[in-house]
Amino acid sequence: MFSWSTCTRPIIVQSPMAGYTDSAYKQIVRMVAPEAVVVTEFVSTDAIFYQSKKSLKMMEFDTSEHPVILQVFGKNPERFVHAAKLAEEMGYDGIDINMGCPAKNVIRSDHGSALVKIKNRCVAMQIVSDMAKAVKIPVSVKTRLGWENADELLGFARELEKNGCASLAIHGRTTQQGYAGEANWDPIYEVKRHLGIPVLGNGDIFSVSDFRKKIGNLDGVFVARGTLGDPWIIADIIEYTRTPELYEQMTDAELDVRFPRLEKIPWKKKKPVVLRHCELAVRTKGEHLGMLEMRKHLATYIKGLPGAKDLREKLVRVQTLEEARGILETIGED
Ligand SMILES: Cc1cc2nc3c(=O)[nH]c(=O)nc-3n(C[C@H](O)[C@H](O)[C@H](O)COP(=O)(O)O)c2cc1C
Repeated sequence: MFSWSTCTRPIIVQSPMAGYTDSAYKQIVRMVAPEAVVVTEFVSTDAIFYQSKKSLKMMEFDTSEHPVILQVFGKNPERFVHAAKLAEEMGYDGIDINMGCPAKNVIRSDHGSALVKIKNRCVAMQIVSDMAKAVKIPVSVKTRLGWENADELLGFARELEKNGCASLAIHGRTTQQGYAGEANWDPIYEVKRHLGIPVLGNGDIFSVSDFRKKIGNLDGVFVARGTLGDPWIIADIIEYTRTPELYEQMTDAELDVRFPRLEKIPWKKKKPVVLRHCELAVRTKGEHLGMLEMRKHLATYIKGLPGAKDLREKLVRVQTLEEARGILETIGED
């Protein structure tokens, strides 16, 4: 059985991204980085409760995705418990509570990051505690530094731990910050000094050198935007963590040459993975929806390649797997 506490350290997690981290995406991450832990897009506990077909479909996963964590959001403890039981029944390795989403339509209903607000603190703790009592799979939380500053973070984290939270991921920005500025990891290191459960950091890892600078005393990291068009970043970080001493003398610039990103990754390494991603999208969603969703991924995979602008224009219009294959075949090996 999966457990955050016994995972090999540091734990490298593919961070949830709504609209991106569907089953095909997670399968791709696991294919290129077999030690990665992957997380679904966030799914509404209300929608699960009302058996929304779309949400139940979003929860389907392939066995190759293990260990795979279901992330859910909402505010009603009973519905969180219902979702946790279903996740356990479906074979998920863990369930994660979204307490970090700052989107207006989410926080307006006191979901997502609104759960860190003092007025919602009791509900947040009840959700964690009720879920932890209801299922055997670990219940984790992904949150931010706080609503407008990190003053309450340590107290909040301690309370989560006391209520049965098995692992805590923290994005180093406040809710009010959205994505502005740089992620501040200092309050995350401070939380780790006081908690017994695994604490994972998140925010602005776009290279192996970013990881080296940020990991500090933490148990692991969540990587989100850095994996777009570049699932290999997870594999490279894992490779680096196996023998960090080999790279100790390297400057950041040298490390970035050793572990190149995006356009610097050879196309011949990318191509089979991109094609596989298309095939999996079609297999999991059907050709029409699958290729529609692949358009944005294809645009990220070809970023920085020679002729990317023209390629992008074609790829964001693709309708069939064959069409995508034909365009991808025109890309030169260098
Ligand atoms: C398009 C997009 C969708 C996201 N959806 C989710 C989500 O469903 N659940 C969640 O906890 N975080 C979500 N996030 C936040 C990321 O998981 C992550 O916390 C944030 O992007 C910071 O990490 P990064 O700097 O590695 O991207 C999303 C981020 C992006 C860019």
